[in-house]
Amino acid sequence: MSKKSMAVVLATAVAVMLTAFALVIPAQDGGGKNEDGLAFPNHLVKRGLAIAPVALNYQVKDRAWVGYGSYLVNAVGGCNDCHTMPSYAPGGNPFLGQPEQINTTNYLAGGQQFGPFVSRNITPNATSGLPADLTLDEFVGVMRTGLDPDNPGQLLQVMPWPTYSKLTDKDLKAIYAYLSAIPHADPPSV
Ligand code: HEC
Repeated sequence: MSKKSMAVVLATAVAVMLTAFALVIPAQDGGGKNEDGLAFPNHLVKRGLAIAPVALNYQVKDRAWVGYGSYLVNAVGGCNDCHTMPSYAPGGNPFLGQPEQINTTNYLAGGQQFGPFVSRNITPNATSGLPADLTLDEFVGVMRTGLDPDNPGQLLQVMPWPTYSKLTDKDLKAIYAYLSAIPHADPPSV
């Protein structure tokens, strides 16, 4: 084989390998494909995984869903502000000028009082393993309608569901995937 045709063969082999990689890497990411077939932006998935304050338990195929869900919960949604009691660890309250340290012990376990209303535990239920003990469909329904799953016919108060209801199905599914990956926790008084 001439040097030139050797070079062509090598270049082709490299091109084939790169293509194979390009196909394999998103597939390992679980694709995180939305209904339009587009993957979640990888920089947001990475950011989400980097800012999650607790150890996450998920399958590799769900990485993009969990990472993007973490981005929505921890960088956008502010769930920790209402659903963790207290939101910050002792000495880690940014509102007191301290370097932020989220309260990981009671992370998203509810128990904050808002007048007569108390935020709920949205960590995986100890028995069912489902976040807030809701199936994905139930969770999406709550976030869209604000209908209280525990008190039929009543609307959740304080909880900014009118805002969250504008998220896409894909976003809500990602939030659910993240909430499924965090550890179960209880509020401090339990
Ligand atoms: C401003 C405070 C606040 C924020 C921010 C907030 N919530 Fe809530 N949430 C509440 C309160 C309070 C309740 C209980 C309301 C009631 O009793 O009427 C609640 C209830 C819920 C419920 C119902 C759970 C059940 O099974 O009963 C879910 C699910 C939920 N929140 C998810 C979330 C998620 C996810 C986020 C972030 C994307 C979030 N919340 C952000 C205050 C908040």
